Amino acid sequence: MAWAVRFYRKGPCQLLPNAEMEDRFLTLHTTLAPEALMEKLQRWAPWSHRFDFDNGMSTRDCAQLTPFNERPLDKFALAASAVPFAELAGGRLLDVGSNAGHNSIHAAVKYRFSTTGMDIDPRYIEVARFLAGLAGASSEFELGSAETFSRPREFDVVLHFGTLYHLPNPLLSLRQSFENLKPGGYLALETQVYDHPQDPNICYFMHMQNNDRTNFWALSTPVLKKNLELIGFIDVREVKKIAMSILAEHMTRIMVVARKPVR
Ligand SMILES: C[S@@+](CC[C@H](N)C(=O)[O-])C[C@H]1O[C@@H](n2cnc3c(N)ncnc32)[C@H](O)[C@@H]1O
Repeated sequence: MAWAVRFYRKGPCQLLPNAEMEDRFLTLHTTLAPEALMEKLQRWAPWSHRFDFDNGMSTRDCAQLTPFNERPLDKFALAASAVPFAELAGGRLLDVGSNAGHNSIHAAVKYRFSTTGMDIDPRYIEVARFLAGLAGASSEFELGSAETFSRPREFDVVLHFGTLYHLPNPLLSLRQSFENLKPGGYLALETQVYDHPQDPNICYFMHMQNNDRTNFWALSTPVLKKNLELIGFIDVREVKKIAMSILAEHMTRIMVVARKPVR
């Protein structure tokens, strides 16, 4: 199968089979006139994600950061190959490290999820609230820490995309995700992993890699899966692993889906 892959230094990769591209772009409804919307969008420029609007405007028309994510829904689409979003429609979804809110807002609009996005950066909370309000999405966004955000047994789905390797204590965050899920709920986790060919137990402390002080741990794939099991997750499933030449040696991106037992 042919894969569309684009890597972003700080942010996520794009990794969607070309055959499953129906949700590549996020187009939000707005009643604002183009000029009025553009004036508001300029407040948060430069943009790092592409949002299109049904009045013809797009964040592509604003100043952009490099890298600029043209297809912000690729991870959600990949997770959808393993999480039955349609069956869970109307439920509760937590989006850890929600950034500009693209995954939360999409889940609310497409699957009628009532979503909670949380992020450590107040600027992202502000922009995500603006976009959700514009689109009439049932999405709340809260400032918080991925390691400690606590809403026990509240969510049918936890999305944990592109954030785990930015945490000094990734296992604490996985445990908290487990606690935040309802029994039977799904975790969809996308992160960077380090797999040494000789020793599967080696994990990589990558603090300050690429001069980025928000980089912390690339766990190995077996250590990540084992810890999910030790926390209590079942049906731990590797959905996709993507090797990218731009990543450091033995580093890849991975999507894993796991469940909290029903009892
Ligand atoms: C690479 S972005 C991923 C955004 C989005 N989840 C995605 O995959 O498209 C990582 C996000 O995690 C957030 N983040 C980093 N550390 C965090 C923490 N300790 N608690 C909550 N969010 C955090 C960042 O602000 C950023 O929005």
